Amino acid sequence: MQTMDGRADSPELEQLYRDFDANSMAPLWTQRDDLMPPVPSPKAIPHLWKWRTLYDIAKRSGDLVPVGRGGERRAIGLANPGLPGTGYATPTLWCAIQYLGGHETAPEHRHAQNAFRFVLEGEGVWTVVNGDPVAMRRGDLLLTPAWNFHGHHNDTANPMAWIDGLDAPFSYYTDVGFFEYGSDRVTDEASPDISRSERLWGYPGLQPLSEPRRLPSSPLSAYRWEYTDRALAAQLELEDEGHPATVEQGHAAIRFTNVTTGRDVMPTIRAEMHRLRPGASTPPRREVGSSVWQSFEGSGTVVLNGEELRLEKGDLFAVPSWTSWELHSDSGGLDLFRYSDAPIIERLGFNRTLTAPPAG
Ligand SMILES: [Fe+2]
Repeated sequence: MQTMDGRADSPELEQLYRDFDANSMAPLWTQRDDLMPPVPSPKAIPHLWKWRTLYDIAKRSGDLVPVGRGGERRAIGLANPGLPGTGYATPTLWCAIQYLGGHETAPEHRHAQNAFRFVLEGEGVWTVVNGDPVAMRRGDLLLTPAWNFHGHHNDTANPMAWIDGLDAPFSYYTDVGFFEYGSDRVTDEASPDISRSERLWGYPGLQPLSEPRRLPSSPLSAYRWEYTDRALAAQLELEDEGHPATVEQGHAAIRFTNVTTGRDVMPTIRAEMHRLRPGASTPPRREVGSSVWQSFEGSGTVVLNGEELRLEKGDLFAVPSWTSWELHSDSGGLDLFRYSDAPIIERLGFNRTLTAPPAG
């Protein structure tokens, strides 16, 4: 051992360090570099998961592992190689592929963790949120905010897979989790095209007077692809007409918002959809906080801390805090879904962004 200024050991100093250990004490000067790096230095690493591989393995789980009470979900977490033993995509975000076979039911439960589902492809599953059946279809974002009962049932003979996003790692580190079982079957097996939540909350700019409160999470349980797609298309059309609408040239983006506040859909998770025109690029950016992206349609590349990775439909990638990221679209354009822990980071005042000018 050494002192802070590098002086050599003495028997007294060695005894001092033994006494630190024996009395459950940890001197800052041995940890300062790790605790207070000059810039964020995440243990999580930038990582890409190929949808083709995830889907194939999830399908095999469907053949081998029954879904039911106890395990609750046939959901397989994307485990960041920099966070071994955790099954977490980032320090705050869980991301899993969930697979439900034909006519299977995932039983109802509720938990303090906030959750959503995002559908890459397929349909035929209804997620029942507090007794309200919500159809799940391609491109839809479905919310299950904290403490709402939810289960899923597949009304068809065909399997369906989607991604689940949760704040489970954040909840785990902060010890805020509660969990309760609900009905073994979903409480309503109906399969309506449109949920009661959408009928009450799904009209732009119109809040029902029966529910005038501002709620911490959005009461709208489904954000339909039809509207997301039209909103992104309109931004690019407006850009063509010379009006301000896009984030930057050729890059349209929307944020899914809490319909009672205009803020993020849930207190811990931000969700967005991005569309790059054919051949468009984004400048390199670094942000405090972590995110997970899924390539939804089209193809292109993402550059993470200088490493270029190919993106095909469904591929997922984790972007840890302060990782430099930039996107490039191929000739067919590129749509991407993104979720992040930005609401936590911003509410606590830790947010910083660094955007580099486009190269060349
Ligand atoms: Fe759940």
